Amino acid sequence: MMEMGSATSHRGFVPWQVLLLTASVLIFWNTPTTAKPTIEAVPFNAAEGGSVVLVVRNVAGKTRSYLWYKGDGAYPAKNIAVFKVSDQTTTHGPLYNRRQKIFLNGSMMLDNLNKGDLGVYTIRIIMQNFMMLQATGGQFHLYRPVSEPTLESTHTSVRENDSVILTCLSSDPGISIRWFFTNQIVQVTGRKKLSPNNVTFTIDPFKKEDAGEYQCVVSNPVSSRKSGIIRLSVKPNIRKKSPGRSQWGILPIVVGVMAGVALMGALACFLFFKKKEEKEEEEKEKDKNKKDKEKEKQEEEKGETRPHGQL
Ligand SMILES: *[C@@H]1O[C@H](CO)[C@@H](O)[C@H](O)[C@H]1NC(C)=O
Ligand SMILES: *[C@@H]1O[C@H](CO)[C@@H](O)[C@H](O)[C@H]1NC(C)=O
Ligand SMILES: *[C@@H]1O[C@H](CO)[C@@H](O)[C@H](O)[C@H]1NC(C)=O
Repeated sequence: MMEMGSATSHRGFVPWQVLLLTASVLIFWNTPTTAKPTIEAVPFNAAEGGSVVLVVRNVAGKTRSYLWYKGDGAYPAKNIAVFKVSDQTTTHGPLYNRRQKIFLNGSMMLDNLNKGDLGVYTIRIIMQNFMMLQATGGQFHLYRPVSEPTLESTHTSVRENDSVILTCLSSDPGISIRWFFTNQIVQVTGRKKLSPNNVTFTIDPFKKEDAGEYQCVVSNPVSSRKSGIIRLSVKPNIRKKSPGRSQWGILPIVVGVMAGVALMGALACFLFFKKKEEKEEEEKEKDKNKKDKEKEKQEEEKGETRPHGQL
């Protein structure tokens, strides 16, 4: 290479292409020796209670031992375990908790995951020739498996052309919701709409062909759960009168009966008083007659005496 460089300079110019080619060849040559190991969590989205493997890549050559640490750096107090390749033995460190396992290829599995396992990890690799490599990484996301969502509907017996709203209730964060109609993902059309977060599914107006089984499914990166089924049916279209009666219940009947009773009462009173009045009048009449008769009698008597007296 020195020869090539001096040759070109000898001629008085250095083509850029040649320099670039030289540089890339140098980089290519250096790659195997300077390649740094990396740690990658698989899967990146892990489930609480599940497991993850911190996969170590780019380790070329014979290894002697693997030393795993929690956090960034190879601090003895943060050591999880040391794996010796020659006899495949593991020596536990202060942060060993029975849920970590180091494999022959250097990768480490974390089992029965909890939030305390989040963060970065460091591996120190001692090669056969006592050369030391080190890498930090292995971050992953931890999700709690979702619980079963609750499906609700404004009504299940829907009159044609009415609207119906189905709601998928879940308390889990960071979920996505999908809707199913007779086990097929729903087709969002002009009549069928989803709210921006897919929590509600609206059918307006409802048609006969919309009758059937509805279900929602909530998922996060590690799990998914189906809700129970809601069966929507078409409500028979009866005359407009019936909802009125059912809505008001027995009120009109009560009012009718009460009015009837009041009317009958009034009639009875009226008749009673009328009778009483008649009776009183009759009595008065009788009294009057009696008095008249007495008067006549008295007058007669007077008349009888007068003529006598006059006579
Ligand atoms: C090392 O072994 C583990 C367990 O068999 C495996 O999951 C992982 O992918 C391996 N790593 C590499 C880099 O092949
Ligand atoms: C529903 O609406 C359509 C279109 O407006 C109409 O033709 C149909 O008669 C309606 N059906 C009922 C049951 O009201
Ligand atoms: C909402 O539903 C649609 C259709 O099923 C789906 O493509 C989309 O990912 C969902 N979005 C959310 C936030 O759940």
